[in-house]
Order: sequence, then structure tokens, then C-alpha cells
Amino acid sequence: MRIEGKEYRTIWFENNVVKIIDQTKLPHQFIIKNLKSIKDAINAIKNMEVRGAPLIGATAAYGIVLAIIENNDQSFLKQSVNDLINSRPTAINLKWAVDRMLKRLSGVNSDKILEFAINEANEICEEDIVFCEKIGLNGLKIIEEIYNKKKDTVNILTHCNAGWLATINWGTATSPIYHAHKKGIPVHIWADETRPRNQGANLTSYELNEEGIENTIIADNTGGILMQRGEVDMCIVGTDRTLSNGDVCNKIGTYLKALAAHDNRVPFYVALPSSTIDWNIKNYKEIPIEERNSEELSHIEGLDENGNLKKIQVYPKKSKAMNLAFDVTPAKYVTALITEKGVCEASSSGLKKLFDK
Ligand code: MRU
Repeated sequence: MRIEGKEYRTIWFENNVVKIIDQTKLPHQFIIKNLKSIKDAINAIKNMEVRGAPLIGATAAYGIVLAIIENNDQSFLKQSVNDLINSRPTAINLKWAVDRMLKRLSGVNSDKILEFAINEANEICEEDIVFCEKIGLNGLKIIEEIYNKKKDTVNILTHCNAGWLATINWGTATSPIYHAHKKGIPVHIWADETRPRNQGANLTSYELNEEGIENTIIADNTGGILMQRGEVDMCIVGTDRTLSNGDVCNKIGTYLKALAAHDNRVPFYVALPSSTIDWNIKNYKEIPIEERNSEELSHIEGLDENGNLKKIQVYPKKSKAMNLAFDVTPAKYVTALITEKGVCEASSSGLKKLFDK
């Protein structure tokens, strides 16, 4: 997608270096950062220079490439894999990508291992782009249906950033929106600010602006009243891990939006590539929910009067704060899942029909 009219992907590999857009600096600074070592890749994931489930997976895949360039030794690779998997616990795409890389590299001679690793990491990215595009085309039908009935702007609420910045291109939740916009369907997006890191304001609104899509940032608690007033036609969110029974783990606050949507009969969709499905865990209580540093709540970063990035404290110094990063929306509140293979009920039978696992 575009930034200032120029097409970008969120990650690419060039001259043995991984290039990323440093998302901690957006929307105020657009900086392309070089990752040159496995440590750089792990820190980029931990510090959320890259974030969003599919992009975390892609970064982990390129992390393995960087580890091989650094030290083509089995024990170094083993340690790197371990550190990568522990860098952020909730998005299943991370483990999915690492497992896929290891499977591809198993039994490959050491003189060929780098070439195989680069090819596989590139392939993970290409596949994600195709899947996200298909998610968009499948979700487009839902937006079109609402538009054909309403014959007016379709108001869509989204939470956090499941946009192209969270993937390689297109996004998951935003892909149907981009496709609708390209088709000339008028859409307006309510972008939940998404405290504490403000991915909705800093990333979703930013990327929609760059594509010329009308959007309004709202405080996280505003969605309920907008739904009561009939100002939300549908919600679409992304996910970091969806269980085979259709339970959806996503950015903290998603659950409350789903409850409000359910109470107001607003359809609530979750968009995801199959790399986000966890086929193993059966109970949502087993999902590792990341707890991040409470400083993300107590401090806030923005531009000062001179246009410099500045971090300030907003909470009382003596107060404790707690920062759970994800929650789980039970399948019963999810209208449907939008995947690369089609739209299905959020249930074991719905997913089975599409994925035959
Ligand atoms: O903590 P983040 O910014 O990585 O959380 C991102 C989300 O919650 C997204 O909705 C999710 O990863 C889906 S990305 C297509």
C-alpha cells in the first residue's frame, strides 16, 4: 500500500539485511530500519517496531535467515529459535513461521541452508500477501451487501491495527475496506484509538489517510454509544490467535466491542489468514496472554511544541498500572470469520468446512 503516494511493503530482504518500517515512530516519523542480526529481529518484535500477527511471523522467518548469516551452526540456530519464540507470546503466527522455516531447513546441507532459508522467508511473505488479498475479496462481498441495502456510506468500526502495517500488504481487517474503496463503495471507518499504544490512532488512521479513506478516531469506549445510535453498520477486527472452536484472541478491548455489537445486533467479523489459526489449543484459558510493561500506560509519547518526539508521564507517580495486551472474544459473539478460503461460521464445523483439518 502507499505512503505519500509511494508503494511499500512492511518488510523486505535486501543485501543480507532485513528492512522494516519502524512502527514505534509512526505516524510522526517514517523511518526504514535495518535489521542485521537475530538480536535485532528479536528486539524489533519485542519493542514492537514490527507488530501485528502476520508481520511478527514474517520477521521471525527473516530472523532465522539473519541467524544463519551470523553463525551457520546448529546450536546457535537452536538458541535463536528459542529466543524468537519467546519474544512475544500471543500471536501464533510467530511459532507457525518458525516451525515452517525449521521444517523447510531440516536435512538441508549447510552450504545450501541460507539459500533455502531466504526462499522460504520470502515465500511466507508472498503467501501472506495473496491470503490478505483473498480475505479482502471475500470480505468485500459483505460490505457490498450492506451497501446495496443501505445505499449510503458503510460505517465500519475496527479495533487496533489489523491493517497492511500489521501484515506484509493489504492487511486483514482493512483488506475488505481497501477493496470496497477501490470499487467505489463509500466507506467510513471508526478507528478505535486502542490504548495504551494507540495502534488505531497512530497506525490504522494513518494508513487509511494515506489511501484516502475517510476515517474518524474514537476513544476506545465510544463504540457502544455509536452502535446504539445506529452509526456502525459492521465491525471488522483482526486476530492474533483464533482457536479451532472459533474463539478469537485479539488486542485488549476487542471483547468489549463484540459484546456491544452483540447487544446492538451489529455484525462482528474477524478477518484472518490460516496462519493465525491455532489447531492445538482447545480452551482459550490456555492462550498465553502477553502482559507488557505498565509504562506503556503511565507514559505517553507525542510531538512537543518544537516537533520533537517526547515521552511524558500522565499517571500519578505512586499509582500501580496493569497492562494486559490481549483478550478473548468467545465464538458466540463472532458473526463470521473472513479467511483466504472464504467466510465461515466461527465454530469447529465452520473452520473444518474450509480447512479440512
Ligand atoms: O500488539 P499488536 O499491535 O501486535 O496487536 C495487533 C493486533 O491485535 C492485531 O489486531 C492482530 O495482530 C491482527 S494483525 C492482522
